[in-house]
Amino acid sequence: MPHLTRPRDFRPFIHYAPPGGWINDPNGLCWDGAQYHLFAQHHPDSLDWGPMHWIHAVSSDLYRWKDIGIALAPDPLGMIFSGSAVKDENGRLVCMFTHHGGTRDNPCEQQSIAYSADGARFEKFDGNPVIPNPGLPDFRDPRVLPNPFLGGWSAVIAAGDEARIYHSPDLIHWRQTGAFGKTQNQMGGVFECPDLFPLRAPDGSTIWALTVSVTQPRETGGSRAQVFLGEFDGLTFRETIPRDAPVMLDNGYDNYAQVTFSHADPPVALGWASSWTYANQLPTADYRGQMTIAKELSIVRTRFGPRIASKPVLPPLGKASPVEGKTALPGELFALDIDSDKPFEATLSNAKGEAFSFGVKNGAFYTDRARSGITGFSPYFSKPPYVRTETPRLFDPDSPIRMRLVFDRCIAELFSDGGAYTATVLVFPTIPYDAIELRGADGTLYTLNP
Ligand code: FRU
Repeated sequence: MPHLTRPRDFRPFIHYAPPGGWINDPNGLCWDGAQYHLFAQHHPDSLDWGPMHWIHAVSSDLYRWKDIGIALAPDPLGMIFSGSAVKDENGRLVCMFTHHGGTRDNPCEQQSIAYSADGARFEKFDGNPVIPNPGLPDFRDPRVLPNPFLGGWSAVIAAGDEARIYHSPDLIHWRQTGAFGKTQNQMGGVFECPDLFPLRAPDGSTIWALTVSVTQPRETGGSRAQVFLGEFDGLTFRETIPRDAPVMLDNGYDNYAQVTFSHADPPVALGWASSWTYANQLPTADYRGQMTIAKELSIVRTRFGPRIASKPVLPPLGKASPVEGKTALPGELFALDIDSDKPFEATLSNAKGEAFSFGVKNGAFYTDRARSGITGFSPYFSKPPYVRTETPRLFDPDSPIRMRLVFDRCIAELFSDGGAYTATVLVFPTIPYDAIELRGADGTLYTLNP
């Protein structure tokens, strides 16, 4: 039997992956009026996490990305950790990021800024840091946003197990105006990569979302992102929409640090399609780490109350073809729409017997990657809880199911119940899946033409 000595090429077609090296969190996501900017935590010299830079890419459509190169590199204040970007009143792109310095045992995290007049070359502000460390080991990932109530800017910063909110007239002078999360964080662990943005509800009202990423122990699911819905008054955030348990931004295990693009209306977001549990072992060949598809966000009413709804931003759909029995897939990049009024099972498979399945059973969505292909690179990837996801339906369990799958070589993204259900799942078939089978549902396949 031929032995797989080198990983095959899993580089996705419409998801951002770096030209080489390592990436994690999306940073500095920003619509500048002409194009979208995407930066990412990046280690150029290896496939593993290391001294963090910001790599930079731009796009006009959110699925074809052009690499620009490295925007920010480590300096005497430290590595360049996660952050965000806005366009200021002078038309400059301003990045706000964490300088991670100090020593390994005694790190020092503080917030700094950098400017770009041409959207390509960045100059760090010579008065950095703009927010010094307040005496906390974890103080990072500033999310800067225009403040629609007070003018000027707000920034939400992960500060241990809470998110602190600051205000500034000029992006340089900051004062703390609020804090959120100490008693609402039911997941434990420190907050990372917070985001704060307004969403339109179906009744026309505005609901503010505060989202945070949290890394839990590996055994209980690792890195996931959590959602709080409520009000922002320009100073602080209050959770006003009740919930019984933590609400996850994504029901899979492969979407971390999801944040929105500044100045995009309606909000558009993407995340890092990975998990800290096995990120350093993913079996990709010449790069490691990729982003999720971009998603337009809104609010949808569910049987559990209002939830964030996500709709994938896709290239034009090609010709539709029905799924009938075991049907050939149109390649490694496609969309699949499923309609069903009862439980169903969908299976993508290849000639080696590798398969990824998903569907609805007992009123719950599920995904299963136990036999999806290469799984042994991490002891966690194909074990519980990572191997199988299960999520109760967000709409009435007896209501018809409409689902969209977006598949791109090694990443499956599912959307259903008005977008309130999303699941991002990595799979690494040793040869491409080439067939789909549906039991209990009708399906339509579409090529995607980027
Ligand atoms: C989240 C994170 C951030 C930090 C960055 C470092 O994945 O841990 O909190 O800024 O990654 O690369």
